[in-house]
Amino acid sequence: MTQSIIHFTTPSEPSERLPLCNSADLIDGGLAVPFDVVHAGQTCRAFAIRFEGQVQAYLNRCSHVAMELDLQENKVFDRDGRWLVCSSHGAEYSPETGDCVGGPCHGGLVKIALTEEHGVVHWHTAYNLKAIEF
Ligand code: FES
Repeated sequence: MTQSIIHFTTPSEPSERLPLCNSADLIDGGLAVPFDVVHAGQTCRAFAIRFEGQVQAYLNRCSHVAMELDLQENKVFDRDGRWLVCSSHGAEYSPETGDCVGGPCHGGLVKIALTEEHGVVHWHTAYNLKAIEF
């Protein structure tokens, strides 16, 4: 019989800060900037946005069906730039929190921590969120 050893990471593991884009790349209510992460061991698309001056990032995975929000590349805001909207069936999310605010979503988007400093936006790894290794 074969035994396997599983290593778990813990929430106390230190976070890394990784460069994502320049501040000027994120326009309030405009197109998202995509990036890739490993979430819970799986490679996933993610996106960063700016809303009311603040930068935010989420996994690009709708809580209705695990599909990316943007059928039109990087277009995640509704026409008014107020809500994040899934182009498949119209689920709407708060840009500030990722919470579901309308449509067929079941819960919110998975949030990714960002910081913005000296004109550069960084994303932060977490115990279940890693950078892709090449
Ligand atoms: S997959 Fe997003 S609303 Fe259905």
